[in-house]
Amino acid sequence: MPFLALSGLSKTYPGVRALDEVSISFEAGEVHAIVGENGAGKSTLIKTIAGAIVADEGTVTIAGRSFADLTPALSRAQGVEVIYQEFNLVPTLSVAENICMGLSTNFFPDFKRMRETARDLLAEFGVDISPNTLVRELPSAQQQLVEIAKALAKSPRILIMDEPTAPLSLAEVDSLFAMIRKTKARGTCIIYVSHRMDEIFAICDRITVLRDGRHVATLATGETDRDTLIRMMVGRELTRTYPERSGSSGDVVLELDALEGNGNAPISLSMRSGEIVGLAGLVGAGRTELAKTICGAVAADSGVLRLDGKEVVFRSPRDALVAGIGLVPENRKEEGTFLEKPIRWNISIGALRFLTRWTTINRPAERKLAEAYRDRLKIKTPSLGQKVGNLSGGNQQKVVIAKTLAARARVILFDEPTRGIDVGARAEVYALMAELAAEGIAILMITSDMEELLGMSDRILVLHNGHLVGTLARAEATQERVLSLASGLKEDKAA
Ligand SMILES: Nc1ncnc2c1ncn2[C@@H]1O[C@H](COP(=O)(O)OP(=O)(O)OP(=O)(O)O)[C@@H](O)[C@H]1O
Ligand SMILES: [Mg+2]
Repeated sequence: MPFLALSGLSKTYPGVRALDEVSISFEAGEVHAIVGENGAGKSTLIKTIAGAIVADEGTVTIAGRSFADLTPALSRAQGVEVIYQEFNLVPTLSVAENICMGLSTNFFPDFKRMRETARDLLAEFGVDISPNTLVRELPSAQQQLVEIAKALAKSPRILIMDEPTAPLSLAEVDSLFAMIRKTKARGTCIIYVSHRMDEIFAICDRITVLRDGRHVATLATGETDRDTLIRMMVGRELTRTYPERSGSSGDVVLELDALEGNGNAPISLSMRSGEIVGLAGLVGAGRTELAKTICGAVAADSGVLRLDGKEVVFRSPRDALVAGIGLVPENRKEEGTFLEKPIRWNISIGALRFLTRWTTINRPAERKLAEAYRDRLKIKTPSLGQKVGNLSGGNQQKVVIAKTLAARARVILFDEPTRGIDVGARAEVYALMAELAAEGIAILMITSDMEELLGMSDRILVLHNGHLVGTLARAEATQERVLSLASGLKEDKAA
């Protein structure tokens, strides 16, 4: 008998059949991947197991007990723990308090024990985070590790992870995998949602494919391969992922002259129009911090920023966007989008100066603009009036990209652009970047995805501990060279 069985689950939202009679069974002690395109229904499926939403039809059976209307409390009582796609920590509490939340029913919390529990769990990960740190002070990769530790602290029988590695870099993915193997050996059933094929083949025993809310197949990992899976997910053949590039670049558009701030040492670099520059580094190297300094989210301590040869100072990302520098941020929930506002509104927010005559917004033009980007980026939604908060994770990311493009930025800083984006749409994002570069836009791409870094960059800059430690031309860049620079093993001459 399977440990967890879903049978005939259906869930309909206005205009969308998110789940369509899905039946899957899961065993104790297996790592079971759920894959599918953005909007395929993965997160919805997970939420029904967690009791966060109730399916219109169907049942969830856990260890022999069937539930038609599971609640979060009931689900947790069955030993289900979920690490959601979007963070769920309390930013104003400490790491220890977050990890131990819900563990004890004592009225007076035992802070000393909490700190010890947290320290032990984090040590198992090999992560060096003080239990006393407030969660809001941690970078997102470390927040994610805390989130995972918090779930493991409850010794769950079913552990569900929705894209757990999105904010992690290679080293942290390794420690996560070690934890998963340990947890699996204890007989826990692990459900693993990811868009990263290499991870799925590395850690999962079986794979379930969803497409448009329907169950397509459940396969043993050893009996399938990447291409077969992608074909099942996308419903068509996908060819080469990385676009051909002409490689020609124009004049220098953006120049940093010893720009220092936000924890980084003075950094000098220049970007030409039409160039895609990859920015590599380990978590904590200062990549996001640099992007934030460039676009004025954080004021620089010293140094000069030049756009088209003229010195500029931005007081906010909005300032920068109007001047022509757009940021597609890493954490869309916090910085990228207004979740309560419609898609159309979010896409056009930075483009209003092109859409406004006197004080009136040209609504038909606004709609056309939004439609154009919906089509170009394949944003999956029944209507552009839909709140962004109701879109699937990957589709929210596409809205953020659309917004920056619509503002006609000439320099775009992409911070982890394909995080949470499915394989099919990933190719679209790459093609789009190549197109933008061909139109003369300069692109700075921060990415922890090695394949993407090597596949897309004309030039790779590597940061280590807030210092620019190396520059690699496309032809000389290899995974080994990037990693050795990123880990501070070798210092190349910085350009
Ligand atoms: N609260 C909601 N209101 C309206 N539509 C919703 C809501 N939640 C989900 N949907 C829709 O249901 C479909 C499935 O969404 P779901 O979040 O399960 O996708 P997903 O497979 O997790 O995608 P991703 O890889 O992008 O995270 C999508 O079309 C989504 O827009
Ligand atoms: Mg999802």
